[in-house]
Amino acid sequence: MSERFQAVVKQFQDEPGVWLVTGCAGFIGSNLLEALLKMGQTVVGLDNFATGFRHNLEEVQRNVGDQAWGRFRFIEGDIRDPEHCHAAVQGVDYVLHQAALGSVPRSLNDPATTNAVNISGFLNMLIAARDAKVKSFVYAASSSTYGDHEALPKIEERIGQPLSPYAVTKYVNELYAGVFARSYGFNSIGLRYFNVFGPRQTPDGAYAAVIPRWIGAMIRNEAVHINGDGETSRDFCFVENVVQMNVLAAAASGDAVNQVYNVAFNARTSLNQLFDYLVTTLAKNGVSYDRRPEYGDFRAGDVRHSQADIAKARKLLGYEPQFSIIQGLEKAMPWYIQFLS
Ligand SMILES: NC(=O)c1ccc[n+]([C@@H]2O[C@H](COP(=O)([O-])OP(=O)(O)OC[C@H]3O[C@@H](n4cnc5c(N)ncnc54)[C@H](O)[C@@H]3O)[C@@H](O)[C@H]2O)c1
Repeated sequence: MSERFQAVVKQFQDEPGVWLVTGCAGFIGSNLLEALLKMGQTVVGLDNFATGFRHNLEEVQRNVGDQAWGRFRFIEGDIRDPEHCHAAVQGVDYVLHQAALGSVPRSLNDPATTNAVNISGFLNMLIAARDAKVKSFVYAASSSTYGDHEALPKIEERIGQPLSPYAVTKYVNELYAGVFARSYGFNSIGLRYFNVFGPRQTPDGAYAAVIPRWIGAMIRNEAVHINGDGETSRDFCFVENVVQMNVLAAAASGDAVNQVYNVAFNARTSLNQLFDYLVTTLAKNGVSYDRRPEYGDFRAGDVRHSQADIAKARKLLGYEPQFSIIQGLEKAMPWYIQFLS
């Protein structure tokens, strides 16, 4: 654990706060919820189960125990409804806004709904948090904001044209956050997540992310499909690194606020390499898979390569990612095997 992260965790343990995690029934939100409850914090959760699940909340309850679970209050609600947002921020110190419709393909199929949730819903949350005078507002931005800009590694200030409606919505979030800082003096921090993976990421459905989808297929000894030639690369980021960034961002002050930060590990892994890592890590856990991947067409709206520069987060927030892709896969594999079998 980085020194700064250790110090910030201690600070929150010594002086616990009230946190709002929107999207708490989803993948990243439920991991934030679990970490905060384990840190002794009080948490309000808001979710409408659009893509999140009650079983994620139940799993967090099992992992933290009933005493810590007593510090959690759940509101079933929709960020498209301003009243739900206002109710959720009452008495809250720190907001971690994760609720959104993720997935590039979903946004291409149904741009209007993605826009309503990710832009109008985001604006509702900003207004509610500003009016409630919360101490900090941290929100999930996205690496998709780099769009067609090809330079690597990705540096926060250098972005291209968006390649999907989803990418537009996440960029608009950053623009609104900037306007709220300049117009109302309302501080926030945007976290541009890069391909996050870990326990509770959805393994099923058309919009499942690549890691749980492939692991599920491998466990069932089914074919693994790769879009394109497999040399497409990503900066895969284990969810515990994302938790660290959110906690650091919530404690930030001075020059570190009203910024956006890359959240990644700073490595580039091709889909072919990922395939090999998964086969190896599964084998270490007693699951063998000896088929080769099946290659298909490239997917619309996908960028070819992605790798983040994380110097800004290191410098201004003291971010030090603890888990490489391999370390993350090793830590999460027992979960994948238990829940995807
Ligand atoms: N997973 C990634 O790699 C990644 C990458 C970049 C950005 N992000 C962003 O991180 C955030 C969390 O993503 P995730 O991967 O955990 O996705 P997820 O789908 O698992 O979680 C999103 C949660 O938001 C909830 N939600 C959706 N619409 C809502 C609404 N109208 N009102 C209330 N709740 C609503 C869903 O039910 C779900 O529980 C999102 O903002 C996403 O855009 C994720």
